[in-house]
Amino acid sequence: MTNSAIIAIDGPAGAGKSTVTRQVAMRLGLVYLDTGAMYRAVTWLLQSLDLPVQESKALQQALSDLELRLEAQQQGDQLVWVNGKNVTEQIRTAEITAGVSAVAALPSVRNALTAQQRRLGASGGLVAEGRDIGTAVFPNAELKVYLTATVAERARRRSADLIQRGLPLPDLKQLEQEINTRDQLDSTRAVAPLCKAADALELVSDGMSIEQVVQQIVSWYEAKLLPPGFS
Ligand code: CDP
Repeated sequence: MTNSAIIAIDGPAGAGKSTVTRQVAMRLGLVYLDTGAMYRAVTWLLQSLDLPVQESKALQQALSDLELRLEAQQQGDQLVWVNGKNVTEQIRTAEITAGVSAVAALPSVRNALTAQQRRLGASGGLVAEGRDIGTAVFPNAELKVYLTATVAERARRRSADLIQRGLPLPDLKQLEQEINTRDQLDSTRAVAPLCKAADALELVSDGMSIEQVVQQIVSWYEAKLLPPGFS
C-alpha cells in the first residue's frame, strides 16, 4: 500500500485545521501542506516591500522572484522561508492575520501559489489544508473534508492558541468579529472562494477533542482508501 493519496482539508478561520492536518499527516505518513502559511508569507512579503494590496507590475515581479519554501521539522512543525529569510514567527502576527484575506483575493497571488501547491502535490502522498484545496487546487483529491465549528468555538480556540504562543490577546468578542470578517472576505471573493466541495465530508467539531477529529478523518481515509480487511 503506497500512500499516494491526496487529502484536502478545507474550512473557515480557526476551525483547528492546522493541528488536525499535522496529526493526520503523521498518522498516515503523508506530507503536510499548510497553504494558509503560504498566503501569510506573501502578505508578509507585500508588507515588507511596502507594496499596495492590488494587482500591479511590482506585484508580478515580486511573485516571479519569490522563493517560498516550507521546511518540515520534527513533530510536524514547519519553518517558512521567503527569499532566504525565516519568517515562521512573523507570519503569525495579528497584523498579517488582519491583512491576509485581501492579499489572498488577488488573482495573481492565487495563481502563483496554486501552481506551487500543485507542483508539491504532483506525486501525491499529501494532506493539504486551506480554503480551496478540494474545490480548486486538488479537485480530484481522494478524500475531501470540510472542517468547521461555530464562531464562538473558533474564537475560544483562537484565544487559547494566542495564549499558548504568548501573543497579545484581544477579547473574545473582538476575536469573533475578526473571524467573521475573514470568513466573509474568504467566502465572497471572486477567485476560489471558501466553500464546501460538493463531494466533501463535513465535520462540525464543536465539543470534539483534537484526537476525535483526527480519528474521524483517519477512519474516513481507511474506509475510502484501504482495501477491505486492511485496517
Ligand atoms: O489558520 P487560520 O484559520 O487563521 O488561517 P490560515 O489557514 O493560516 O489562512 C490564512 C488566510 O489565507 C485565510 O483567511 C485565507 O484568506 C487565505 N487562504 C486562502 O485564501 N486559500 C488557502 N488555500 C489557504 C488560505
